[in-house]
Amino acid sequence: MNQTPREITTLARNPANFTPVVDEINANGGQAAGISADLSDTNSVKSAFDKINEQYGGSTLAAAVFNSGGGFVRKPFLELTEEEFASGFESQGKGGFNFAQRTLPLLQKATGLQHPPTLIFTGATASLKGSASFSAFASGKFALRALAQSLAREFGPKGVHVSHVIIDGVIDIPRTKAWTFEHEDAKLDPAAVSYLLLSAFFPSSSLSGGFWMNEGKADCVL
Ligand SMILES: NC(=O)c1ccc[n+]([C@@H]2O[C@H](COP(=O)([O-])OP(=O)(O)OC[C@H]3O[C@@H](n4cnc5c(N)ncnc54)[C@H](OP(=O)(O)O)[C@@H]3O)[C@@H](O)[C@H]2O)c1
Repeated sequence: MNQTPREITTLARNPANFTPVVDEINANGGQAAGISADLSDTNSVKSAFDKINEQYGGSTLAAAVFNSGGGFVRKPFLELTEEEFASGFESQGKGGFNFAQRTLPLLQKATGLQHPPTLIFTGATASLKGSASFSAFASGKFALRALAQSLAREFGPKGVHVSHVIIDGVIDIPRTKAWTFEHEDAKLDPAAVSYLLLSAFFPSSSLSGGFWMNEGKADCVL
Protein backbone atom coordinates (compact mmCIF):
# COMPACT_ATOMS: atom_id res chain seq x y z
CA MET A 1 0.00 0.00 0.00
CA ASN A 2 1.25 3.47 -0.84
CA GLN A 3 1.96 5.39 2.38
CA THR A 4 1.88 8.89 0.92
CA PRO A 5 -0.17 10.85 3.49
CA ARG A 6 -3.48 12.03 2.07
CA GLU A 7 -4.54 14.24 4.94
CA ILE A 8 -2.28 16.27 7.21
CA THR A 9 -3.44 18.17 10.27
CA THR A 10 -1.18 20.83 11.76
CA LEU A 11 -1.55 22.21 15.27
CA ALA A 12 -0.32 25.52 16.70
CA ARG A 13 -1.75 28.06 19.10
CA ASN A 14 -1.80 30.90 16.60
CA PRO A 15 -3.38 30.20 13.16
CA ALA A 16 -0.85 32.60 11.62
CA ASN A 17 1.77 29.93 12.33
CA PHE A 18 0.04 27.00 10.59
CA THR A 19 -1.83 28.79 7.77
CA PRO A 20 1.21 29.27 5.47
CA VAL A 21 2.15 25.56 5.83
CA VAL A 22 -1.44 24.43 5.24
CA ASP A 23 -1.74 26.71 2.19
CA GLU A 24 1.57 25.47 0.74
CA ILE A 25 0.58 21.79 1.11
CA ASN A 26 -2.85 22.40 -0.43
CA ALA A 27 -1.36 24.44 -3.29
CA ASN A 28 0.90 21.49 -4.10
CA GLY A 29 -1.90 18.94 -4.35
CA GLY A 30 -2.00 17.73 -0.72
CA GLN A 31 -4.87 17.93 1.73
CA ALA A 32 -4.03 19.84 4.88
CA ALA A 33 -5.97 21.57 7.62
CA GLY A 34 -4.96 23.52 10.71
CA ILE A 35 -6.45 23.52 14.18
CA SER A 36 -5.61 25.96 16.98
CA ALA A 37 -4.42 24.11 20.07
CA ASP A 38 -2.11 24.69 23.01
CA LEU A 39 -0.21 21.43 23.49
CA SER A 40 0.59 22.30 27.10
CA ASP A 41 -3.15 22.52 27.90
CA THR A 42 -4.76 19.08 28.27
CA ASN A 43 -8.30 20.35 27.52
CA SER A 44 -7.16 22.22 24.44
CA VAL A 45 -5.44 19.08 23.09
CA LYS A 46 -8.53 16.97 23.81
CA SER A 47 -10.73 19.45 21.96
CA ALA A 48 -8.33 19.47 18.96
CA PHE A 49 -8.36 15.67 18.74
CA ASP A 50 -12.17 15.61 19.08
CA LYS A 51 -12.26 17.86 15.98
CA ILE A 52 -9.77 15.60 14.18
CA ASN A 53 -11.91 12.59 15.04
CA GLU A 54 -15.06 14.35 13.73
CA GLN A 55 -13.30 15.18 10.48
CA TYR A 56 -11.21 12.06 9.88
CA GLY A 57 -12.72 9.41 12.20
CA GLY A 58 -12.13 6.04 10.57
CA SER A 59 -8.92 7.15 8.79
CA THR A 60 -5.58 5.59 9.67
CA LEU A 61 -3.00 7.68 11.51
CA ALA A 62 0.34 6.76 9.91
CA ALA A 63 2.61 9.34 11.54
CA ALA A 64 2.56 12.04 14.21
CA VAL A 65 5.27 14.65 14.75
CA PHE A 66 5.75 16.71 17.93
CA ASN A 67 7.72 19.70 16.65
CA SER A 68 6.76 22.42 19.10
CA GLY A 69 9.43 25.04 19.77
CA GLY A 70 7.62 26.46 22.82
CA GLY A 71 9.27 27.22 26.16
CA PHE A 72 12.44 28.71 24.66
CA VAL A 73 13.78 31.11 27.31
CA ARG A 74 17.41 32.21 27.30
CA LYS A 75 18.14 34.06 30.54
CA PRO A 76 20.70 34.05 33.35
CA PHE A 77 19.38 31.69 36.04
CA LEU A 78 19.02 34.27 38.84
CA GLU A 79 16.84 36.46 36.59
CA LEU A 80 14.54 33.58 35.70
CA THR A 81 11.02 33.60 37.17
CA GLU A 82 9.32 30.41 38.31
CA GLU A 83 6.79 30.85 35.48
CA GLU A 84 9.54 31.09 32.86
CA PHE A 85 11.28 28.04 34.28
CA ALA A 86 8.04 26.05 34.29
CA SER A 87 7.29 27.05 30.67
CA GLY A 88 10.14 24.80 29.46
CA PHE A 89 8.54 21.73 31.03
CA GLU A 90 4.96 22.82 30.24
CA SER A 91 5.73 23.21 26.54
CA GLN A 92 8.06 20.29 25.98
CA GLY A 93 7.51 17.71 28.78
CA LYS A 94 3.78 18.16 29.35
CA GLY A 95 3.18 19.10 25.71
CA GLY A 96 4.87 15.87 24.59
CA PHE A 97 2.83 13.92 27.15
CA ASN A 98 -0.49 15.38 25.95
CA PHE A 99 0.39 14.80 22.29
CA ALA A 100 1.56 11.22 22.88
CA GLN A 101 -1.51 10.34 24.95
CA ARG A 102 -3.78 11.34 22.06
CA THR A 103 -1.74 9.95 19.16
CA LEU A 104 -0.46 6.60 20.48
CA PRO A 105 -3.93 4.99 20.74
CA LEU A 106 -4.57 6.00 17.10
CA LEU A 107 -1.14 4.81 15.92
CA GLN A 108 -1.70 1.47 17.67
CA LYS A 109 -4.88 0.99 15.65
CA ALA A 110 -3.13 1.59 12.30
CA THR A 111 -3.12 -1.42 9.99
CA GLY A 112 -2.10 -2.15 6.41
CA LEU A 113 0.74 0.39 6.23
CA GLN A 114 3.95 -0.17 4.25
CA HIS A 115 6.00 1.43 7.05
CA PRO A 116 5.25 1.12 10.76
CA PRO A 117 3.10 3.79 12.40
CA THR A 118 5.53 6.38 13.73
CA LEU A 119 5.66 9.03 16.45
CA ILE A 120 8.52 11.52 16.15
CA PHE A 121 9.66 14.13 18.68
CA THR A 122 12.13 16.83 17.68
CA GLY A 123 14.91 17.61 20.11
CA ALA A 124 17.64 20.26 20.12
CA THR A 125 21.15 20.75 21.49
CA ALA A 126 19.36 21.50 24.78
CA SER A 127 18.10 17.88 24.81
CA LEU A 128 21.70 16.75 25.44
CA LYS A 129 23.39 19.68 27.09
CA GLY A 130 22.32 22.25 29.68
CA SER A 131 24.18 25.33 28.43
CA ALA A 132 24.56 28.56 30.45
CA SER A 133 21.29 30.56 30.45
CA PHE A 134 19.33 27.61 29.04
CA SER A 135 18.14 26.01 32.31
CA ALA A 136 14.41 26.41 31.52
CA PHE A 137 14.49 25.17 27.92
CA ALA A 138 17.03 22.40 28.61
CA SER A 139 14.96 21.08 31.54
CA GLY A 140 11.95 20.84 29.20
CA LYS A 141 13.96 19.24 26.37
CA PHE A 142 15.57 16.70 28.75
CA ALA A 143 12.05 15.75 29.91
CA LEU A 144 10.90 15.33 26.31
CA ARG A 145 13.88 13.10 25.53
CA ALA A 146 13.20 10.93 28.59
CA LEU A 147 9.56 10.62 27.52
CA ALA A 148 10.58 9.60 23.99
CA GLN A 149 13.02 6.93 25.25
CA SER A 150 10.46 5.48 27.61
CA LEU A 151 7.73 5.40 24.94
CA ALA A 152 10.09 3.80 22.39
CA ARG A 153 10.71 0.92 24.80
CA GLU A 154 7.05 0.51 25.74
CA PHE A 155 5.47 0.89 22.30
CA GLY A 156 8.19 -0.52 20.01
CA PRO A 157 7.28 -4.10 20.96
CA LYS A 158 3.64 -3.16 20.26
CA GLY A 159 4.47 -2.14 16.68
CA VAL A 160 4.72 1.66 17.01
CA HIS A 161 8.04 3.25 16.06
CA VAL A 162 8.91 6.12 18.45
CA SER A 163 11.83 8.31 17.44
CA HIS A 164 13.56 11.36 18.95
CA VAL A 165 15.43 13.41 16.38
CA ILE A 166 18.06 15.75 17.82
CA ILE A 167 18.73 18.86 15.78
CA ASP A 168 22.07 19.76 17.33
CA GLY A 169 22.60 23.24 15.91
CA VAL A 170 20.82 26.25 14.44
CA ILE A 171 18.81 25.63 11.27
CA ASP A 172 19.50 27.99 8.38
CA ILE A 173 16.00 29.49 8.02
CA PRO A 174 14.81 33.09 7.46
CA ARG A 175 14.22 33.53 11.22
CA THR A 176 17.87 32.72 12.01
CA LYS A 177 19.43 34.78 9.19
CA ALA A 178 20.65 37.42 11.64
CA TRP A 179 22.46 34.83 13.81
CA THR A 180 26.06 34.77 12.75
CA PHE A 181 28.80 32.30 13.68
CA GLU A 182 32.55 32.15 13.24
CA HIS A 183 32.22 29.63 10.40
CA GLU A 184 30.00 30.59 7.47
CA ASP A 185 28.57 27.07 7.15
CA ALA A 186 27.90 26.58 10.89
CA LYS A 187 24.12 26.46 10.46
CA LEU A 188 22.27 23.29 9.51
CA ASP A 189 20.88 22.92 6.03
CA PRO A 190 17.05 22.56 6.33
CA ALA A 191 17.21 19.89 3.60
CA ALA A 192 19.58 17.79 5.75
CA VAL A 193 17.22 18.12 8.72
CA SER A 194 14.29 17.03 6.50
CA TYR A 195 16.35 14.03 5.35
CA LEU A 196 16.94 12.97 8.96
CA LEU A 197 13.23 13.29 9.76
CA LEU A 198 12.34 11.28 6.66
CA SER A 199 14.73 8.50 7.64
CA ALA A 200 12.91 8.32 10.98
CA PHE A 201 9.58 8.09 9.14
CA PHE A 202 10.62 5.33 6.78
CA PRO A 203 12.81 3.04 8.89
CA SER A 204 12.40 0.05 6.64
CA SER A 205 13.55 1.89 3.53
CA SER A 206 17.05 2.40 2.14
CA LEU A 207 17.09 5.88 3.74
CA SER A 208 17.90 4.48 7.16
CA GLY A 209 19.43 1.14 6.24
CA GLY A 210 16.39 -0.74 7.49
CA PHE A 211 16.48 -0.37 11.27
CA TRP A 212 14.27 1.44 13.74
CA MET A 213 15.90 4.51 15.19
CA ASN A 214 15.01 5.86 18.62
CA GLU A 215 17.55 8.65 18.46
CA GLY A 216 19.00 10.34 15.38
CA LYS A 217 21.16 13.45 15.41
CA ALA A 218 21.89 16.22 12.89
CA ASP A 219 24.98 18.23 13.78
CA CYS A 220 26.81 18.91 10.56
CA VAL A 221 26.09 20.12 7.05
CA LEU A 222 25.95 17.24 4.57
N1 LIG B 1 14.95 26.59 14.59
C1 LIG B 1 16.13 26.04 14.91
O1 LIG B 1 17.22 26.53 14.53
C2 LIG B 1 16.16 24.76 15.73
C3 LIG B 1 17.41 24.24 16.09
C4 LIG B 1 17.48 23.05 16.82
C5 LIG B 1 16.31 22.42 17.18
N2 LIG B 1 15.10 22.95 16.84
C6 LIG B 1 13.89 22.21 17.27
O2 LIG B 1 13.03 22.00 16.15
C7 LIG B 1 11.66 22.11 16.54
C8 LIG B 1 10.98 23.22 15.78
O3 LIG B 1 11.73 24.42 15.98
P1 LIG B 1 11.23 25.83 15.41
O4 LIG B 1 12.38 26.74 15.48
O5 LIG B 1 10.51 25.63 14.10
O6 LIG B 1 10.18 26.22 16.55
P2 LIG B 1 9.16 27.43 16.62
O7 LIG B 1 9.13 28.16 15.33
O8 LIG B 1 9.49 28.21 17.83
O9 LIG B 1 7.80 26.68 16.91
C9 LIG B 1 7.32 25.70 16.01
C10 LIG B 1 5.82 25.64 16.14
O10 LIG B 1 5.46 25.22 17.47
C11 LIG B 1 4.26 25.88 17.81
N3 LIG B 1 4.09 25.86 19.26
C12 LIG B 1 4.91 26.40 20.20
N4 LIG B 1 4.40 26.18 21.43
C13 LIG B 1 3.22 25.50 21.24
C14 LIG B 1 2.22 25.03 22.11
N5 LIG B 1 2.29 25.18 23.44
N6 LIG B 1 1.15 24.39 21.56
C15 LIG B 1 1.04 24.23 20.23
N7 LIG B 1 1.97 24.65 19.36
C16 LIG B 1 3.04 25.29 19.86
C17 LIG B 1 4.44 27.29 17.23
O11 LIG B 1 3.21 27.93 16.98
P3 LIG B 1 2.45 28.82 18.12
O12 LIG B 1 3.47 29.69 18.77
O13 LIG B 1 1.42 29.57 17.34
O14 LIG B 1 1.81 27.85 19.06
C18 LIG B 1 5.13 27.00 15.90
O15 LIG B 1 4.19 26.81 14.87
C19 LIG B 1 11.69 22.32 18.07
O16 LIG B 1 11.64 21.08 18.72
C20 LIG B 1 13.04 22.98 18.30
O17 LIG B 1 13.52 22.82 19.62
C21 LIG B 1 14.99 24.10 16.12
